[in-house]
Amino acid sequence: MVRYTQNWTTVASQDMIRVFPKLFEEREHPINFLEIGCFEGRTSRWIVENMFNHPEDKLYCLDWWRGDVDNEHYNLFLDNMEDLKDRIEVIRGESQHTLPTLEDQLFDGIYVDGSHEAIDVMSDAIQSFRLIKKGCVILFDDYLWDNNHGGQRHKMPKVAIDCFVEMTKGWSTEVIFKSYRLAVKRT
Ligand SMILES: C[S@@+](CC[C@H](N)C(=O)[O-])C[C@H]1O[C@@H](n2cnc3c(N)ncnc32)[C@H](O)[C@@H]1O
Repeated sequence: MVRYTQNWTTVASQDMIRVFPKLFEEREHPINFLEIGCFEGRTSRWIVENMFNHPEDKLYCLDWWRGDVDNEHYNLFLDNMEDLKDRIEVIRGESQHTLPTLEDQLFDGIYVDGSHEAIDVMSDAIQSFRLIKKGCVILFDDYLWDNNHGGQRHKMPKVAIDCFVEMTKGWSTEVIFKSYRLAVKRT
């Protein structure tokens, strides 16, 4: 039986349907999808159950699952994904170190929802740009998150996402969606 302590899925999933419409359609070819920051697997489960429609579709679940007592969140993630374990690839580690081990243009869609520190988000953005296929979409969560840090820029994803967009727009990305979350298509 699945068990969660948080629900970020209800709102994020609505934006996923908007920005990844093609991935929800019947497809002849399998896809690879990456979620950076999976926590207890609530959204991971939703992706497999709602987006995936080809038997070989694969979700790469990346998280360091660190800082929790006795691996509480990691074990909860594994329990929650137990019946779907054939559909996922678990990558446990810091995204700054694990993303570089993955091959170029492996993914048909990427959902970035890991660290909120600007420097980490910048690293995740640059790696995601390398990892996403041309014509496919990266969705950044928490674009407008500041958690009452009083505008401390290094703690806000927006600083990094704006910088990434500024560096790449026009020649290799296009912003296709902007609200609390922001999505870019690699062109
Ligand atoms: C907001 S939660 C993710 C929520 C999840 N996507 C969902 O919708 O339920 C953020 C996750 O990012 C992970 N995280 C934070 N910084 C990270 C980093 N540098 N590398 C890997 N994972 C990280 C945390 O462990 C946490 O589980």
